[in-house]
Amino acid sequence: MSIETAFDIPFVAKMALREKQIQQNYRPIIGVHKWFARRPGSLFRALTLAEFSKSSLSESYFYSHNFSGRKVADPFMGGGTPLIEANRVGCDVTGFDINPMAAWIVREEIKHIDIKEYRKKASDLIDALRDEIGHLYVTDCPHYGDVDCPVKYFLWVKTIDCGSCEMNFDLFPGYLISENARHPKNVLVCPVCGDLNEVEDRKNPGFCKSCQAELKTKGPAGRGHCPCPHCGHGNEYPRKGEGALKHRLFAIEYYNPIRKDGHKGRFFKKPDTKDLNRVEEAQVRSRDLQPQFIPNEEILAGDETNRLHRWGYRYYREMFSDRQLLGLEQSCRLIAGIGDERIRHALATNLSDLLRYQNLLCRYDTWALKSLDIFSVHGFPVGHVQCESNLLGIINGKGVNVGSGGWSNIIDKYSKAKKYCDAPFEVRHKGSRKVQIPIQGEWIGEQLNGDRLRKISIHCADATSVALESQSLDAVFTDPPYFGNVQYGELMDFCYVWLRRLVGKEAEGFWRESTRTQEELTGNVTRSWGLPHFTAGLARVYKHMADALKPGAPLVFTFHHNKLDAYFAVGVAILDAGLICSATLPCPAEMGGSIHIHGTASSIVDTVFVCRHTGRIPECWLFQTSEKLTEIVAHDLAQLSAAGRKPTTGDSRCIIFGHLTRMAIWNLKEYWNPNLTTEKKLEIFSESLKSLTDPEQIFAQLKEKKSSPIAAGPLFFAAEMKLRTINAITF
Ligand SMILES: C[S@@+](CC[C@H](N)C(=O)[O-])C[C@H]1O[C@@H](n2cnc3c(N)ncnc32)[C@H](O)[C@@H]1O
Repeated sequence: MSIETAFDIPFVAKMALREKQIQQNYRPIIGVHKWFARRPGSLFRALTLAEFSKSSLSESYFYSHNFSGRKVADPFMGGGTPLIEANRVGCDVTGFDINPMAAWIVREEIKHIDIKEYRKKASDLIDALRDEIGHLYVTDCPHYGDVDCPVKYFLWVKTIDCGSCEMNFDLFPGYLISENARHPKNVLVCPVCGDLNEVEDRKNPGFCKSCQAELKTKGPAGRGHCPCPHCGHGNEYPRKGEGALKHRLFAIEYYNPIRKDGHKGRFFKKPDTKDLNRVEEAQVRSRDLQPQFIPNEEILAGDETNRLHRWGYRYYREMFSDRQLLGLEQSCRLIAGIGDERIRHALATNLSDLLRYQNLLCRYDTWALKSLDIFSVHGFPVGHVQCESNLLGIINGKGVNVGSGGWSNIIDKYSKAKKYCDAPFEVRHKGSRKVQIPIQGEWIGEQLNGDRLRKISIHCADATSVALESQSLDAVFTDPPYFGNVQYGELMDFCYVWLRRLVGKEAEGFWRESTRTQEELTGNVTRSWGLPHFTAGLARVYKHMADALKPGAPLVFTFHHNKLDAYFAVGVAILDAGLICSATLPCPAEMGGSIHIHGTASSIVDTVFVCRHTGRIPECWLFQTSEKLTEIVAHDLAQLSAAGRKPTTGDSRCIIFGHLTRMAIWNLKEYWNPNLTTEKKLEIFSESLKSLTDPEQIFAQLKEKKSSPIAAGPLFFAAEMKLRTINAITF
């Protein structure tokens, strides 16, 4: 079998869509540590099986495989999805990533751990933390009078000193802290006395129960402007040179285990004197700390980090509350004292992952009533209202986590991830029921129960810096950077500056002060890295990998971008590598509800580029007219629809761009001169692609087709399969 013939678009799309709804239920391994833009594991399982298995994908997907002896590489492994899927089915794997955090995380995913021992040490850690700082995470319940209830979330608002009267005031963009969705009523902060009010109708909220002031949902702060409530002076913020804004604790969501069952909804309160004293204690203790682990690093300028600079943040440590700094420093000290290296490394990884919830850039979701971690979008959005989660985490009487963002949540997630490595499963839908199917015989790692050994080599390096034996690889599966879509180095430095202090001497590549490097392939305005930089780097890596492929073996990668130009880089890289693109296949790869995608026409669909030195390509895919391309795209869209994805304009765009790229490669392959300058090659590629057709024309033709829909599913698919076998062209 080969991917071109065995890849079943509706089947894979369905699996990927389900997985991306709640990825940790389908691929718990992602719980080891955050990585950005992870593609669905189901997609890479499907690609691996489509290439190596002899049976159809829908049959083979739920069965165990062992392709031992096959060699697979990933030059851009990130969080390791393609690599782990190949390892799980027995392949020997080689992975590269220029970011030391990626190499660390993939090793953590792969290395076996004694889960029982890990859980024991983790619970010792929480106990020790509770002794030290547990009293800073409790509050008294004003509803029932119970004392020392665990706090779920502290809510903080940014404040500023008035430029005229110098009085300090809050920067509330809105006063709503809870919608009446998961809580019976809307909860509003009083703009005058700060008390919390539960109201039925947030359009007509009425008056504050404590001071009778008029309640409002909309606050005065926004677009960098807020009038002073004391003197009316119009203040601009953030102000250059004044540093990061201060925060004031204004609300608490807590958990009352005794009253929970008889109480409707959540527990909210305005902080009382004891709560404010706890804030003060944390302030004093954190000031008196002689920190060993709190990072001193400055935040470097960058496309994403410049936003932090605009808000006055200069050092990473300024992104945390005093209580967070205190708790994180204590956590690090406890972890550093653990003798067992495997467990110490696991807990250090956990701390690094915990950071994304334990900082004062987290926001509070007023609908879901939970913390949104700093990486809920691929950037550093700075809010006016920030959310601090309980560092320890809260476990209810049934042993289940309440709330998010604490140690107990992270430990739970990590344990599930490592259990999954020893006993992976797939999830099959039977009607509305989801059934976990254990895939007995498959496992993730180097060694299971000390018996079998698989070859795994992980490198924190650019792939081209490591020699690969010619004709040694059975496949390259990868998910490269999508030009400048995600600034991996800039984002990961946030975790790295802490983790480096904990394990820096024991980790590959951690000698660097930042995960950013000249070798990172991305588009970045701050660093003046444009398309030629990205193209040249991608081409270098693909050429290096292609030279190591066995004859006819594939280099397969996912890609999507909203701009056509980004595909020129892909085309040039494939041609420079001496490969031909034998298929471009659509697959949903992100979650429609993702915050950075939700409500936009953006694509969640990736194009899977399948490239080989030699192979066969169905003649019907080699289009000469825009009508033919429209038919191919309509077919792709129909197959996605059959899987339950209603394609957006963005999806269609990415699919069209993918096919145009494939066809331009086909047309240029015989005359391609890799020795030209990158700029010239980009120009040639762009001209060739644009001469095929105008993507807008395909959009128009697709719209017309809507009235006479393409038959999706088996009929069309069967017809095309026939074409494939009859009219395949060898290249
Ligand atoms: C799209 S991500 C990979 C995501 C990954 N497949 C996953 O499942 O998480 C692309 C990766 O390429 C890495 N990268 C960028 N330039 C590189 C280079 N020159 N050599 C190796 N890796 C590089 C980035 O650090 C990033 O981790």
